[in-house]
Amino acid sequence: MRCVLVSKSLDLRGYLGAQFLRAADRIEIVSHPHHGPATDIRLAVAWHPPDDAFDHYPHLQAVCSIGAGVDNILACPSLRPGVEVIRVVDPAQAQMMSGFVAWHVIGHQRRFATYQAQQREERWQRLALRRAQDVPVGILGFGEIGRTVATDLPVMAWSRTAKETPPGISGFDGTAGLDAMLGQTEVLVNLLPLTPETRGILNRTTFARMYRGSYLIQVGRGEHLVEADLLAALESGQLAGAALDVFSAEPLAPRHPFWRHPRIVVTPHDACEVSVEAIGATFRATAEAIRAGRRPPHSIDRERGY
Ligand code: NAP
Ligand code: GLV
Repeated sequence: MRCVLVSKSLDLRGYLGAQFLRAADRIEIVSHPHHGPATDIRLAVAWHPPDDAFDHYPHLQAVCSIGAGVDNILACPSLRPGVEVIRVVDPAQAQMMSGFVAWHVIGHQRRFATYQAQQREERWQRLALRRAQDVPVGILGFGEIGRTVATDLPVMAWSRTAKETPPGISGFDGTAGLDAMLGQTEVLVNLLPLTPETRGILNRTTFARMYRGSYLIQVGRGEHLVEADLLAALESGQLAGAALDVFSAEPLAPRHPFWRHPRIVVTPHDACEVSVEAIGATFRATAEAIRAGRRPPHSIDRERGY
């Protein structure tokens, strides 16, 4: 069996490194565009594949993402129906995301931006202190990563389907659940996959339902956010600030208003990362399942989109 590496944004061979290539047990790795025979190319590892990429590999059975999200693979027009799409589930990545979210939640709770502004003005002024429980945090998405974030912070969490939640975590689901959670939220963390249902969910209506002076932590996908609505909410004071890690066009364009906004923190899609070891383990489990004629673990539901 052979596997093709397909990406228009990354040099996957360099990114995955020699260790990954060595560990690809009995699988020859080729890079796209592959000009030789394609009959035994049954596996791909992909990230932002070019639109026509999969047309070249008619015997493809599975495409592995190198991240938790698969939206960029599902959006590829040449991905045929029936091809399994596999994501990486990496507990270490979720833990890293939890640290990123905690950084910004505590930054908002402890008024880090205000202290920074005071320091720039050489102003010595104590501010009213707030405890963690005074700042309710709502998470959009209670999946592999949302659940890890929720064990480290007292939160409310919203998902598509109702969930049993551990003590200390309030669960919400569906449209009514979203409204109920937003009405009690001061920090909103977006950890949703990008699907037709979730595109544009961070919009003026969502912001208006939260407490005045709320904070947004946007770590899902750029297309979840209506950028003009965020700028308007910051301007009106409905939102006090935002930490943005993902953008609809990456890298963020030069002179984009987010770069210099005094109440926006920009990080370059760096909240956390999947380890090459976790990608390797996913890849090997996928190859093994295909050889055995089983469905690979962590295959996503293509109908649902995540
Ligand atoms: P996951 O395990 O698939 O969980 C997704 C969660 O979103 C589930 O709780 C699901 O609800 C919920 N959901 C999906 N569609 C929904 C809808 N229409 N309404 C309400 N809830 C909905 O995904 P994950 O591993 O936690 O990752 C989540 C996302 O984080 C990724 O897809 C990616 O976009 C983003 N991410 C970003 C970074 C970064 O560096 N910034 C890194 C990793 C991941 P159910 O539980 O009911 O199915
Ligand atoms: C990163 O964005 C991922 O999906 O793992």
